Amino acid sequence: MKAGLSWLQAALQGTIFLSQLLPVVAQVPLPTPAWTPPPASSGAVSSPNANRPNKQWSTLLGELLYFYDAQRSGKLVSNRVDWRNDSLTDDGKGYTDLSGGFYDAGDYIKATFPLSWALTSICWGALEFGNGYKDANQTAYLDSTLRWGLDWLIKAHPEMNTLYVLVGDDQKDNNYWGGDQNIPSPRPAYQVNDTHPGTDVAASASAAFSSCALLYGNKTLSSSSTPAALVNTTYARTLLTHSRQLLNFAVNSTHGMKQYQDSVPQIQDAYPSSGYYDDLALASIFLGAADSSPTLLQLAKTYWDKGSLSHGDIALDWDSKVAAIPVLMTEVLASQSSLSSAQDANAWKSAAESILDQIVAANGPGYLTGGGLLYFDGSSDSASLNPALNSAMLLVKYAPLASKSSKSNDYLAFAKLQLDYVLGNNPMSMPYVVGVNPNSPQNPHSAPASGGSDIGNINSSPPTEAHILYGAVVGGPTKGDEFWDERRDWVQTEVAIDYNAPLLTLAAWKVATDGNDPFYTRLQDGAYAANRPPGTSRPCSNPDVPCGYEFPFPQDRQIVVGVFLGLGGAIVLAMAGWYAYEWKKASTKAA
Ligand SMILES: *[C@@H]1O[C@H](CO)[C@@H](O)[C@H](O)[C@H]1NC(C)=O
Ligand SMILES: *[C@@H]1O[C@H](CO)[C@@H](O)[C@H](O)[C@H]1NC(C)=O
Ligand SMILES: *[C@@H]1O[C@H](CO)[C@@H](O)[C@H](O)[C@H]1NC(C)=O
Ligand SMILES: *[C@@H]1O[C@H](CO)[C@@H](O)[C@H](O)[C@H]1NC(C)=O
Ligand SMILES: *[C@@H]1O[C@H](CO)[C@@H](O)[C@H](O)[C@H]1NC(C)=O
Ligand SMILES: *[C@@H]1O[C@H](CO)[C@@H](O)[C@H](O)[C@H]1NC(C)=O
Repeated sequence: MKAGLSWLQAALQGTIFLSQLLPVVAQVPLPTPAWTPPPASSGAVSSPNANRPNKQWSTLLGELLYFYDAQRSGKLVSNRVDWRNDSLTDDGKGYTDLSGGFYDAGDYIKATFPLSWALTSICWGALEFGNGYKDANQTAYLDSTLRWGLDWLIKAHPEMNTLYVLVGDDQKDNNYWGGDQNIPSPRPAYQVNDTHPGTDVAASASAAFSSCALLYGNKTLSSSSTPAALVNTTYARTLLTHSRQLLNFAVNSTHGMKQYQDSVPQIQDAYPSSGYYDDLALASIFLGAADSSPTLLQLAKTYWDKGSLSHGDIALDWDSKVAAIPVLMTEVLASQSSLSSAQDANAWKSAAESILDQIVAANGPGYLTGGGLLYFDGSSDSASLNPALNSAMLLVKYAPLASKSSKSNDYLAFAKLQLDYVLGNNPMSMPYVVGVNPNSPQNPHSAPASGGSDIGNINSSPPTEAHILYGAVVGGPTKGDEFWDERRDWVQTEVAIDYNAPLLTLAAWKVATDGNDPFYTRLQDGAYAANRPPGTSRPCSNPDVPCGYEFPFPQDRQIVVGVFLGLGGAIVLAMAGWYAYEWKKASTKAA
């Protein structure tokens, strides 16, 4: 009897212990059987009619979310990707639990700055196009994706003024090319804190929490939109607490404001920030909307002015948020009457339209490639599709608020052109999303999907990518619209959690509003092969853009280049010195 009782007690304790080990379960129950992507060939079949919800757009939405499952780190729960395993379950062991979250791209680091933007972007879009997720039967996967990211971000923020910003060693992790079972570990993790602040990354994480708190808290950003049905006020409150603490940390650190790579130089190569005023402004608006705070909107205006953001970089990506700020502010002022008098709504509207008009005119910092892709020199060079998709996402979000209906139409039409380009209406006839059509990229730069372990032969070992990384948006073509589909060419073929985010919002918009197929259903097998640029690899014609070498740039070659540049610099200096000396001699003589 006694033995029986203790057995029972042990079992009970064991159960309690185990239940503590299990991660938080998603609120919306996942379907059984799980939704999984259909074969790529199904993306070459047109729908018989133009009814909503369109099956192809719904499938695309599902696949874009499925990609995030393939990027999961830690102990996998309800894993849909059969070639993925539990990995790096003891990240942070010894100081704080940093297991879980998402691998940022084709390698295995976990990076807070791009993650925060990806989550912000997804929640912002889901506030508007919830019906798209609903009609595609993808709301449960949206919930589990967001929670997988947010629950990790909560762990990465264990104290008020501590935020982990990088797990893994960027150099070392980029030098590991292989599966998810042999990733070098234990791994270092790097934080910002009060003595070593990171204003941009703290503000950015704050925005992720508050934008998602709006979604989980059932607040809308427009009278016409329907947020995804994820309401859970307990979760929303938790997210809000983190958001408030992080914005406070960003703004009020006793060591002032700093770009986070100044505190954590280890992030410099992967995701350095170009400034923090954009992050501060965006975070202040999202939190201001969640807390209905005119003071926070005023704070956003202060940062907008302080950073001279009206003259800022309008290409939107994980680093540069300028273009999103007046769009979001306009939405917030239009949707919350208690805030409508807090700011000059018309001034924000013109700021938004000045940016969007420039994008649509495509004759400013952003211009069209020959094939019609919106291209920003600089931002587009390392991932050409991303700024174009982000711009399209902004145009679609803002269109209902435009000052004239003709403008609204122009915005939507331009967004549609970009979307069509990305989905196959381009000179390569390639839909730049893996697994959605027979012409999709076959060689995304992804260590786990490739099945290879020979970093010297990323392209050919193995000859065929081992696993199809369904739903992954790749970096994209050159500004000459060319795409070689080579695994080692990370600029063109790498995947990333922030690349997928804007297309997710655009696909949700399409599911909710359009019965017609995405462009790629017209592309039959062989279309890309017929258009693929000649030659076996990308020529190094543009010195600004890395190409044709293995990533990462091998250290020995870095040294050679460094010595070369150093020598060049010394020669230039010596010549300048000699000229100055001669000139001085000459002028002394003349005097
Ligand atoms: C709401 O979210 C919390 C925190 O994740 C979770 O514990 C709870 O079960 C959720 N509530 C419902 C009703 O799903
Ligand atoms: C969503 O689920 C419903 C009910 O099971 C089904 O009738 C419908 O076809 C599904 N929609 C999509 C786009 O899969
Ligand atoms: C997952 O584990 C299996 C079995 O060990 C292995 O074959 C597979 O390659 C692993 N997946 C990755 C992405 O490494
Ligand atoms: C604060 O962050 C810096 C930079 O990451 C780190 O070197 C330092 O150890 C941290 N301070 C504490 C108390 O952990
Ligand atoms: C969310 O808000 C809408 C109105 O804004 C309301 O109709 C709906 O019932 C709310 N949902 C929940 C779960 O509270
Ligand atoms: C910064 O600190 C001041 C003074 O304590 C406080 O009033 C303000 O709310 C803080 N700012 C943020 C964004 O939390």
